[in-house]
Amino acid sequence: MIKYLTCALKWVDDRFPLTATWKAHLSEYYAPKNFNFWYYFGSLALLVLVMQIVTGIFLTMHYKPDADLAFYSVETTIMRDVWGGWFIRYLHSTGASMFFIVVYLHMFRGLLYGSHRNPRELIWLFGVGIFLCLMGEAFFGYLLPWGQMSYWGAQVIVNLFGAIPFIGPDVAEWLRGDYLVSDATLNRFFAFHVIALPLVLLGLVAAHVLALHEVGSNNPDGVEIKKYKDPNTGIPLDGIPFHPYYTVKDIVGVVVFLMVFAAVVFFAPEMGGYFLEANNFVPANPMQTPAHIAPVWYFTPYYSILRAVPPMFNSQFPGVVAMGASVLIFAALPWLDRSPVKSIRYRGAQYKGWLTAFVISILVLGYLGTVPSNVWGQFDKDIFILGGADRATVLARVMMVVYFLFFILMPWYTKIDKTKPVPERVTG
Ligand code: HEM
Repeated sequence: MIKYLTCALKWVDDRFPLTATWKAHLSEYYAPKNFNFWYYFGSLALLVLVMQIVTGIFLTMHYKPDADLAFYSVETTIMRDVWGGWFIRYLHSTGASMFFIVVYLHMFRGLLYGSHRNPRELIWLFGVGIFLCLMGEAFFGYLLPWGQMSYWGAQVIVNLFGAIPFIGPDVAEWLRGDYLVSDATLNRFFAFHVIALPLVLLGLVAAHVLALHEVGSNNPDGVEIKKYKDPNTGIPLDGIPFHPYYTVKDIVGVVVFLMVFAAVVFFAPEMGGYFLEANNFVPANPMQTPAHIAPVWYFTPYYSILRAVPPMFNSQFPGVVAMGASVLIFAALPWLDRSPVKSIRYRGAQYKGWLTAFVISILVLGYLGTVPSNVWGQFDKDIFILGGADRATVLARVMMVVYFLFFILMPWYTKIDKTKPVPERVTG
């Protein structure tokens, strides 16, 4: 039997680099031996990507991209009539939120260990591309159940393009394919969600991992393991083969992750309105705007920034620019960070302090994006630029400033930071 399998493998290898690919990317890809908890999230992101594609294919079998049928195809056909349909739907809706949790933690790991730094800038840039694509994918997918929040969320976001000077209203109409969000909009969002963006996403993820394997992984010490190689074998002294060591380690992460995932799917698929909003169980009604429109939790920090910037000449454009900048600025990170060290282990109080402030700003902005901006009432008096704004808006403005200062001041505070000496080899 083994003899036949070996022959078959040789036959394939003579025609396709199967064994060579396995060796290059798994059994002879040498990763640093000191990966920790934070290194689970790349493989988990891959897992969620595959799960979203597979569950998405099954949802598409019963979903109807038609303004008259979409809501019922989800809420009646998939959730009640099709055997196991509810399970597939909840896997997909929970998967969307879990995707963002995993990706946010994955990006945070980059900030912890300086994984965005030379020579990994391109891995990071592909990552930012993935992040943008993921946001588009989630936004387009959210319209598909055609509930009140789907409808009005899309209305609000597409209208933002209307704020672009001169060409805005035409751009918004072109994006919708109609004067308001309608059947035409639903059809094109469906096309983007099920085929266009997944293709781009898959391409970017492949590029991301290939770029990583070209330069090799960073690690919690932020030292380059390729500097010290065994003179006879050329294998990094601090490296271990990805397979079997990290395939086994990643399985532990997958098991724990799937347990959490299953708990959400079976016991709290709506997650108190954070994963699936109550208003989305009401069919879309273009004649009735919901009292409070809020995006899903993973967009709320950016939504908060949008709302925090005051309109200029009656236009929301400055807010739109700030929101766009708050996402795109991540792409500049490899060039903003001037520290002589990569890992947080050897950085000084400046970087640690700013990173903490940045995380707090995101959490506070995220919370503020979920509540109406007048939640704590108005300021009574005009105080300089805050001019009678509501308290939550004032807090959002302060947090937005902290958010941007983390990036803008980075070249300065990373340079003056008192860093510790970095060891030559990984510390285990
Ligand atoms: C679909 C989303 C994504 C997938 C499937 C994915 C996949 C992966 C995988 C498998 C790894 C190697 C394992 C690991 O280091 O954890 C990795 C590394 C990395 N990813 Fe991602 N990634 C995604 C999104 C992102 C995003 C949004 C960013 C940043 C903007 C990013 C930045 C990085 C960096 C800098 C590394 C190298 C880390 C190091 O060597 O320390 N990734 N990614």
